[in-house]
Amino acid sequence: MTPIICVQNMYNLANRQDDALVDRLAQQQIAYVPFFPLGGFSPLQSTRLSEVATSLNATPMQVALAWLLRRSPNILLILGPSSPEHLQENLASARLTLTDEIMAKLNGI
Ligand SMILES: NC(=O)c1ccc[n+]([C@@H]2O[C@H](COP(=O)([O-])OP(=O)(O)OC[C@H]3O[C@@H](n4cnc5c(N)ncnc54)[C@H](OP(=O)(O)O)[C@@H]3O)[C@@H](O)[C@H]2O)c1
Repeated sequence: MTPIICVQNMYNLANRQDDALVDRLAQQQIAYVPFFPLGGFSPLQSTRLSEVATSLNATPMQVALAWLLRRSPNILLILGPSSPEHLQENLASARLTLTDEIMAKLNGI
């Protein structure tokens, strides 16, 4: 009925039901905005995520966001932090580089 330019749905490191959709939208150059990118009301918690974060001198939330940015080029993050500290922390995640090895580790969560 109308051109679609962006899809928003729940998606994060631990909720990946939209994996195939994210890839299909990327092929069609359609943006994907994950809601609850940090888990929403139940922020993400994982031993593996914490281990990776420690190894990168980052926080688990930063790694979860960096994972989303690295996951697919059509992913657009619109976050909802309620403090300037969280905002700064979240912005810094864009500078984190996740290697293929780290991505593989995180994909196992
Ligand atoms: N389309 C839809 O149906 C739908 C549904 C839900 C949400 N959304 C949208 O999706 C976006 C994200 O949603 P959301 O904010 O609810 O989910 P979220 O980003 O996954 O989670 C927000 C939670 O993460 C915490 N948080 C944020 N940054 C953090 C950090 N650096 N360290 C530790 N905790 C941190 C927040 O705490 P603080 O408050 O303390 O920062 C809050 O408790 C928003 O724009 C929202 O409007 C859309």
